[in-house]
Amino acid sequence: NKGKYEHYMQKEIHEQPESLTTTMRGRLIRGGSCKAKSVLLGGLKDHLRTIRRSRRIVFIGCGTSYNAALAARPILEELSGIPVTMEIASDLVDRQGPIYREDTTVFVSQSGETADTLQALEYALENGALCVGITNTVGSAIARHTHCGVHINAGCEIGVASTKAYTSQIVVMAILALAIGDDTISSQGRREAIIDNLFDLPNKVKEVLKLDEEMKDLAKLLIAEQSLLVFGRGYNYATALEGALKVKEVSLMHSEGILAGEMKHGPLALVDETLPIVVIATRDACFSKQQSVIQQLHARKGRLIVMCSKGDAASVSVGGSCRVVEVPVVEDCLQPVINIVPLQLLAYHLTVLRGYNVDQPRNLAKSVTTQ
Ligand code: UD1
Ligand code: BG6
Repeated sequence: NKGKYEHYMQKEIHEQPESLTTTMRGRLIRGGSCKAKSVLLGGLKDHLRTIRRSRRIVFIGCGTSYNAALAARPILEELSGIPVTMEIASDLVDRQGPIYREDTTVFVSQSGETADTLQALEYALENGALCVGITNTVGSAIARHTHCGVHINAGCEIGVASTKAYTSQIVVMAILALAIGDDTISSQGRREAIIDNLFDLPNKVKEVLKLDEEMKDLAKLLIAEQSLLVFGRGYNYATALEGALKVKEVSLMHSEGILAGEMKHGPLALVDETLPIVVIATRDACFSKQQSVIQQLHARKGRLIVMCSKGDAASVSVGGSCRVVEVPVVEDCLQPVINIVPLQLLAYHLTVLRGYNVDQPRNLAKSVTTQ
C-alpha cells in the first residue's frame, strides 16, 4: 500500500522518521539521576563479552548493506578499539580470505537471503568465527544461521533500491558500537552525546526531507547528463558510494562515488566545466580537507553541487560559484543518516523525470538469491 505516495521508493524515503523510531524502540535507555544513558540490544547482550575480546571485527555484505557497514565502521573502531575490516561477500568467497576463530564476523543484509552473503556466512561458520547478523527480516536464512544478531525493524521494504533499510542499518550499527564500548569510562561523554542525538534523529530526518522540492529542481537541471560524480571522505565516504549507487541503479545515469582523498590519483582528470560533481562537505574532522578539495575543483572550473552543514553556504562557495544544499547538523557519526536523504530524493526525482521505473529498475531484483 503506497498510501498518498506515487511510488514505494518515495514512500520509503519519506517514512524514514518513523522507520528509524521503530528501529530504536526499546534500545536506547534515557538514564536517570544517577544512571548513565545507555543502549540495549537484546539479541547481543549475552555475546558482548566475546565480541569485545575478538581480535578483529569483519563486516560482510553486498550493495547498500555493504555501504551501511562502511558508514558505521569509523564509530565502531573508535568506540571498540578493535580493528574493523570490510568485505564484499562475493569477494571474500572468491579469495577464500582468512577468517579466524578470534574474529567477529558481522553479516549485514536487508533481506537476509542474499546468496553471496549466505555463502560467506557458511564460510565464516566453517572457520569458527562468531557470526552476527544484522537483518530486516525475521526468520530469514541469515537470521537463522547466525549465532546471534539484531533485527533492524525498519518495516517491509518494497522498492528495489534500498532506502529506509540503509538508514536503519547505520543506526543499528552505531548502537552496536555503543554497546561494545559500554564498559569504557573515557568515552562516556561521547557515547552520551551520540545517544542524545539518536533520540532526536527522527526529527532531524524530518527536517532534511523538506529539501524534497529543492532536490526535484536539481534533478531537472541534471536530467540530460551522462554522468554524476559524488565525492566524500571520512564518515561520508559511504554516503558518496551509496548516493552514486542510488543514482545509477534507479535513474540509469552513470554515477561514481569517489573517496575525496583519492581525487588527485585519477578522478581529477575528469573535471571540466560540464561534468556535474556532488561534494559532501558537512562539518566534521575532515571539513578543512574537503574545503581544500572544493577550492581545487573550483580552480579547474568544476561544476559543483556542495552539500554542507546549515550556515556554511558562504564558506564552501569561496573560490567559485556552486550550487549549495544545506543539511541539519548531527553528531559526526550519525551525519551519514542525514546526508544520504537528499541524494535518495535526487535519485528518485531524476528517475521519475527521465521516465524510468523507479520501484523496479531494469535488470535488478530486490533479493539476489542466485549467483
Ligand atoms: C525481541 C523480539 C521483539 C520484542 C523484544 C522485547 C523477536 C524477533 N524480537 O527483540 O519482538 O519486542 O525482544 O524485548 O522476537 N538474531 C540472530 N541473527 C540475526 C538477527 C537476530 O541470531 O540476524 C537473534 C538475536 O540474537 C535474538 C533474536 O534473534 O536472539 C531476536 O533478535 P532481535 O529481534 O534483534 O531482539 P530484540 O531487540 O531483543
Ligand atoms: C540487491 C538489491 O542487489 O541486493 C540491493 O537490489 C541490495 O538494494 C543488495 O542492497 C543486497 O541485499 P541485502 O538484502 O543482502 O541487503
